[in-house]
Amino acid sequence: MDVKQNIRRQSLTDIEGQAARIAAMMGMIREAMLPPTSSKAAPTLSASALAQLCEVDKSKIAYRLTKEDLPAPTMHGNRREWPMADALPWIREFRREKLRPSDAAAVTITVANFKGGVAKTTTAVTLAQGLAMRGHRVLLLDLDPQGSATTLFGVLPDAEVDPENTAMLLFTGEQEDLSYAIRPTYWPGIDLVCAAPLLFGAEFALPARQSKDPGFEFWRVLDRGLDQVRERYDVIIIDTPPSLSYVTINALMAADGVLMPLPPSALDFASSAQFWDLFSDLCNQLVRARGQDKTFEFIDVLLSRVETSDAASSVVRGWIQEGYGDKVLPIEIPKTAVAATASAEFGTVYDMTRGSVNAKTFARARDAYDRMCELIEQQIQSVWAQQIEGA
Ligand SMILES: Nc1ncnc2c1ncn2[C@@H]1O[C@H](COP(=O)(O)OP(=O)(O)O)[C@@H](O)[C@H]1O
Ligand SMILES: [Mg+2]
Repeated sequence: MDVKQNIRRQSLTDIEGQAARIAAMMGMIREAMLPPTSSKAAPTLSASALAQLCEVDKSKIAYRLTKEDLPAPTMHGNRREWPMADALPWIREFRREKLRPSDAAAVTITVANFKGGVAKTTTAVTLAQGLAMRGHRVLLLDLDPQGSATTLFGVLPDAEVDPENTAMLLFTGEQEDLSYAIRPTYWPGIDLVCAAPLLFGAEFALPARQSKDPGFEFWRVLDRGLDQVRERYDVIIIDTPPSLSYVTINALMAADGVLMPLPPSALDFASSAQFWDLFSDLCNQLVRARGQDKTFEFIDVLLSRVETSDAASSVVRGWIQEGYGDKVLPIEIPKTAVAATASAEFGTVYDMTRGSVNAKTFARARDAYDRMCELIEQQIQSVWAQQIEGA
């Protein structure tokens, strides 16, 4: 046998060609996925789905309709349906008490973990959708140069994102307030700051600024850049790259709360320990050394991608419970085919309609995310209450 036939040498030009072919494919996949306008659409709510989100009985929705002061449904035969944008005034009306008090500011939540593939992006986007559906005004900030969250919003990082659509100009110092980069999305109640590979440049720009000016605090650039933005949103959710990069440190320093998705695998558990170790080292060097401090209102560990039947994972679940104690949220996100199918269609469980997949798995996946959103909403409400008390 000629062993040489196993070798397929690739020049840089070959690799370039490969990259271009895949980029072109992505464009085509996007066109095919998102017909007819190549843009996504948020789901429409039935009367019972609306009642559930408003946390009232269906009869109350019917009664309120007679007052004609909230958006009327569109009729499908004799079924009433509300496009998400029309449902939001209802939800905000009925859930008034649970929304941000006017004298409180946005709560910033950073989704972080060293590792890739632990469901950071899925968690960040699903949480953004879940909170928006509950009436909150959400800003989703994508800080991962891979732009996965950006892609889930139907925007292609390589072809459709320029520096001014990302946090990059903040990191280079060309802008001081992140407002310039915010754009609306297909999902009512969610605005987005995109990410793209160009954001890798921040890993050079930030240390370069630091070495030019020792008084500069590279880790507080994002925190400062969000000052104005915090007055206009209820919740800011930050998706981060799978590393403790300069950008991730900025995201953690800007956060009121941290959410760490953690699959119950031994390697992921071990790597999460390294994450906190490195982070506290960095904080000591940067923050404490300057006589400053940093407090988080909450740190949550979210069991993600849990295979309930897997014996090994139940051992590691025990370690996580023991190691992280009450930081572990009392909900597990199961690993389901529904979540996988949703992402193959560039969406999440909240983008899917009930009929399109197995009803039982759909309910199992969706109930877990609903509960996650509920638990985090309660923490957000506590932070608002504290802000007002402290003011
Ligand atoms: N609950 C789940 N069940 C099945 N697959 C999941 C689940 N959550 C995430 N995934 C899949 O796992 C992969 C990694 O998720 P992602 O959110 O991109 O992780 P990260 O941002 O940490 O790299 C994606 O393909 C995603 O669709
Ligand atoms: Mg990601």
